[in-house]
Amino acid sequence: MIAAGEFLAEGVGRLQLSHPERELCARLLEDLIGEEPRSAAVAGTAEEELLSAVRGAALDDRLLLRAAHHLTARLPRRLVAALWDIRYTEALAALVVSGAPNLGKFGPTPPRWGASSHESIAKADRWLLLLCAELGDPVTWGYLQEGALVNDLLPMADRVEEDGENGSRLPMTLHVDEAFADERGDAFGLVCLRNDDRVPTRIAPLAAADLDREDAEVLRECRFVVEAHGDQRLRPILAGGPEAAVVRLDASASRAAPGDTRAARALEALLGELERVAVDVALKPGEVLLVDNHRCVHGRPGFRASFDGSDRWLRRLTVVRDLRPTSDRRGAGDLRVLR
Ligand SMILES: [Fe+2]
Repeated sequence: MIAAGEFLAEGVGRLQLSHPERELCARLLEDLIGEEPRSAAVAGTAEEELLSAVRGAALDDRLLLRAAHHLTARLPRRLVAALWDIRYTEALAALVVSGAPNLGKFGPTPPRWGASSHESIAKADRWLLLLCAELGDPVTWGYLQEGALVNDLLPMADRVEEDGENGSRLPMTLHVDEAFADERGDAFGLVCLRNDDRVPTRIAPLAAADLDREDAEVLRECRFVVEAHGDQRLRPILAGGPEAAVVRLDASASRAAPGDTRAARALEALLGELERVAVDVALKPGEVLLVDNHRCVHGRPGFRASFDGSDRWLRRLTVVRDLRPTSDRRGAGDLRVLR
């Protein structure tokens, strides 16, 4: 698995693209974005027609989203194999892809989400899309940055104290995204545009946690709530078979049912184990972190933002393995915003 790659921790891989692999990806991105002429490989082919049709398109363009699945056939085989280790073999719960082709100049970190121009981030977004396309189909939620398909993770001056993607001073405690929701993303990717201060993303794969058998059994029972959006349903924190366990957890919002001290103890044990196995990854510009949102929790420590254009700036794209279960929440056609 993850040939010539390395493990940063159990279930967390890093793949450094070689020079030829980087060149392959650079040509693909150029063909996807650049002006004519395209590389000789696609000249006069149906692929050239497809590329022409999506050039300059917004990332949520229907044709571009479909084209991404076609174009991943041109990604290096070693990279695809590593991505499939998240989706299919589940040997990985997270993967860092390093050595990306040049993703262009993004300008300073904007003061708020959604403030960057599409042109400056088009290449980075397409790189993120190509990698995420091997894990599923992109979706987002209407309440996330007004339904933008790709979200800016950057500090905002008026949200310093928030425990969220635009906060900074407070740590983001370990969680899966949309822990409270019935339909959450199956995986997400983060592309790093800037990280001068090396602020890490913290990831903890569930499989690395060494849980007491009795605690694990309690965690599989409907004895917990995720206190978010007024939801008080009792639900399990762990599910799936022992060899394929998945987690629904938000450390700052998950609680045992009132009075259930045994469940509270099991939750505390799980949180302690996840903290123990967590690994910090300070992404560098151009690197992408891909995370299985069922088998891995994530967070980040608090940091001091300067709001001078040099702050950490990541962009996130979320995917689901199957679009059909959310069809009634996405409106007509194949729109990707869940309402
Ligand atoms: Fe998150």
